[in-house]
Amino acid sequence: MKYKACLFDLDGVLVDTAIYHFKAWRQLGLNFGYQLTEDQNEQLKGISRVESLDRILGWAGVQASEKEKSKWLVEKNEHYLDLISNMNPNEILPGVSDFLSQIKKEGYLIALGSASKNAQIILEKTGLIKWFDAIIDGNKVSKSKPDPEVFLKGAHALGVKPEECIVFEDAQAGVEAAKKGGMKAIGIGEASVLFEADKVISTFLNTNANSLLKF
Ligand code: G6P
Ligand code: MG
Repeated sequence: MKYKACLFDLDGVLVDTAIYHFKAWRQLGLNFGYQLTEDQNEQLKGISRVESLDRILGWAGVQASEKEKSKWLVEKNEHYLDLISNMNPNEILPGVSDFLSQIKKEGYLIALGSASKNAQIILEKTGLIKWFDAIIDGNKVSKSKPDPEVFLKGAHALGVKPEECIVFEDAQAGVEAAKKGGMKAIGIGEASVLFEADKVISTFLNTNANSLLKF
């Protein structure tokens, strides 16, 4: 077996938290009279909290002090934490648990590579945590995707080489990060958006791990 590990992004790959991020950012934007659109939210996928706020302020044409920004970051996260507080295993995306079980049986190591500082809570609430051999989240990295740091740290934590890893990503920035890190990338979503990925699937539902992981 050439590939030894599978590295998963969290939001939009294993669970769908984008809607919660969207609600929390949209509410936050109202502080400065700005209404975030769904298209803009799409561009925030995979992007860290701090960078997301900077982008929103840029779109809104708002200049804010560091103190104000820190206050807004806390406010957004408190709202987000409130929205995810009732997350449960029903929110695992279709086919994900079966896919994780297939790759575990095949002997692949499994790691998380997410920009979210709330990844651990989400993995616990959904019960997904049991599958993971390593968790690299927003608390362990200093550079946002498309920088490959999060996935390189994941490979390192698992004790495998980057070229032995396959990354699963729903965001363009994440696919770019995987490719920059010298890994294979499987996009979850639309091929027209995730055109840099080596393969693209729309869902894990009814996905056969053996055939998908053949390159
Ligand atoms: C993921 C999401 C982003 C989010 C980022 C940080 O990458 O796709 O939309 O901004 O995590 O999440 P956090 O939970 O730390 O605010
Ligand atoms: Mg994602």
